Amino acid sequence: MICDNITVNKQNHLCFAGFDTVEMAQKYGTPLYLMDEAKIRQHINEYKNAFKKYFPVGSAPEFASKSFSAKQIYRIMQDEGMNIDVVSVGEIYTAKSAGFDMSHCFFHGNNKTDYDIAFAIDNGVGYFVIDSFEEIEAVNLMAKDKGIVQKALLRITPGIDTHTHQKISTGNVDSKFGFAIATGMADEAVQAVLKCENISLCGFHCHIGSQIFESDPFILACDLMLDFIAHIKATQNYTADILNLGGGFGVKYTNDQPTLNLDEKIGEVAAAINQKCDELGIDVPKIAMEPGRSIVADAGMTLYTVGSVKEIKGYKNYVSIDGGMTDNPRFALYESPYTVMLASRANDTPDFKATIAGRCCESGDIIQNDVTIPKPQRNEILAVLTTGAYNYSMASNYNRVARPAVVMLSDKGDYIAVKRETLEDICSLDV
Ligand SMILES: Cc1ncc(COP(=O)(O)O)c(C=O)c1O
Repeated sequence: MICDNITVNKQNHLCFAGFDTVEMAQKYGTPLYLMDEAKIRQHINEYKNAFKKYFPVGSAPEFASKSFSAKQIYRIMQDEGMNIDVVSVGEIYTAKSAGFDMSHCFFHGNNKTDYDIAFAIDNGVGYFVIDSFEEIEAVNLMAKDKGIVQKALLRITPGIDTHTHQKISTGNVDSKFGFAIATGMADEAVQAVLKCENISLCGFHCHIGSQIFESDPFILACDLMLDFIAHIKATQNYTADILNLGGGFGVKYTNDQPTLNLDEKIGEVAAAINQKCDELGIDVPKIAMEPGRSIVADAGMTLYTVGSVKEIKGYKNYVSIDGGMTDNPRFALYESPYTVMLASRANDTPDFKATIAGRCCESGDIIQNDVTIPKPQRNEILAVLTTGAYNYSMASNYNRVARPAVVMLSDKGDYIAVKRETLEDICSLDV
């Protein structure tokens, strides 16, 4: 199995976090997102322990909200003493409503509106991650207006091609995010922000991409960012307190992908940082990272009910399910790989090759192409594994399909974290 929270019981049913998935599907209906609370907490603690072991005091990981934003997630983050990042007023509102201490929150985004900036300040967001010259000016003005000094990092583009999918690779110089070092834009941004009386610059941020299994791209990013920190110290007499390396450690979606040894990788990054700081004669900054998928992805699984099994002789087979791109758009967007299992007969021989198709009126509504599973029958339960990240958070109401419920599985039992959308919910904003 690709993750240790997946097993098969005596009834030949797939189990997740020790819970029979067929029973969960009967109890809550499908499509259904299941989340393994212990796995989320385990990953948070893997990050926290590695940070404590390898990085200077004050270093801390942040959970990237974009991967999964719901009140219960923020309660878990608060409970575990985890920082968070957010990218919208919606995520700020959700976290605040859950009782999250917003002073531990970092606000991202390449186009924060004046409304967003005011909302974030009014709600006590700890840090802005500033992304443009306009934002420097707007945050300074708004903070002045509200009589505060706003803490901030500058988002810097180190200019690295991590060879990940184009749409999710954001460290390149021509990215829409950040201030590029290569063009001198980053120097100018530091100059501009240091002139602002109502912004306190705390350091720099970068994000080089996602689904990275090796430490090398992070080490390269550190190299460039620490050179930049030393250069800014020499030229502008400013010492960065925090270096945030963004998100990005990879997750095993399929058996052919590696399993990440987080402690080892963070240890390698830390060793490279220490050596580089030594060479440059600068203090090691506090290190932050903002993992999303490596906290929640393998803590999630989606259950569907099989509808039709269509065999197009000589061509291909389709298994159609009662969800699809509305609850998981990632194959349609990025051709992301997933592992699919027949939850109702988990250990039966996988001898039927089929494409798993969603229910939307869209031929691109595919969950996965050509997977091999036992041939399913109508009303059997199909599971798509490792769906905890960027599934619920990217879900839509396309075709007016209702979003599934999120059920949390914990040692205290199963409980609803997000209710299933109703038909009334779907029409609730229509006038
Ligand atoms: C700025 C930033 N931080 C963090 C993340 C989280 O990345 P991941 O979920 O791959 O860890 C992303 C993802 O796109 C991002 O853009």
